Amino acid sequence: MRRSYTEDAMASKVRINRFLAAAGLGSRRKCEDLIRAGLVCVNGQKVDRLARLVDPDNDVITVDGEKIAWNQKKIILVLNKPEGVLSTVSDSFNRKTVIDLAREHGYTERLFPVGRLDLDTSGIIIITNDGELAYRLMHPRFKIEKRYIVTVEGRVSQSTIDDLVTGVVADDFVTQPCTIRVLKRGSDTTELDIRLKEGMKRQIKRMFGLYGHTVVKLKRVALGGMEFGDVEIGDIRPLTPAEERHLRRLAKLA
Ligand code: URA
Repeated sequence: MRRSYTEDAMASKVRINRFLAAAGLGSRRKCEDLIRAGLVCVNGQKVDRLARLVDPDNDVITVDGEKIAWNQKKIILVLNKPEGVLSTVSDSFNRKTVIDLAREHGYTERLFPVGRLDLDTSGIIIITNDGELAYRLMHPRFKIEKRYIVTVEGRVSQSTIDDLVTGVVADDFVTQPCTIRVLKRGSDTTELDIRLKEGMKRQIKRMFGLYGHTVVKLKRVALGGMEFGDVEIGDIRPLTPAEERHLRRLAKLA
């Protein structure tokens, strides 16, 4: 039988950023920032190389002086984010974050959101302490589908949709092919269903913005083909074992 990632890593050395991500310190990139900031020590010595290998069984790894436990229980939650809540861990202006919401619901562990939804976007977001899973769910290589219902100003023409589904240049990136279906054409707005397999910053707003359509409402309604229809706006719950298996399979961690 295949060993789990944790068992594999326990049996051998792993890169320090993977260790930290798997131990719940954040995505691999976030963990690299901690290393660059000089906050990470192995056996009392500051880590100065991102490629540093560690032995999770025998090395003592600390972040900002705190010893990092390897075997912590993995938590994967799904939140239906309301508008007006930030999808960050904390906020320097003390605005409410998805992690504040998780704490209000009794989840006091060190958790972080997977990817980001804008302040004025609502819908499905995963909250976890599993850095490896988070990394994979966010990475375009794994092509995890995110589905949104978007309302934009104006009547979106078929030629605009044809452009957007093929891929467009949006400032500093080229979008991958996506799927778009028109749900409703009003007199001065259009409602569309859009499925993306990547998640660049403000991607949908920028895609429609290129064609002069301002987004007036945006909601993420599914992730990896799962709709989580029972999770009301503002609610949060752990994934069921079947949902967790499904996500891990999509992230090639099964
Ligand atoms: N695209 C956006 O523009 N904003 C979001 O919050 C999500 C996708």
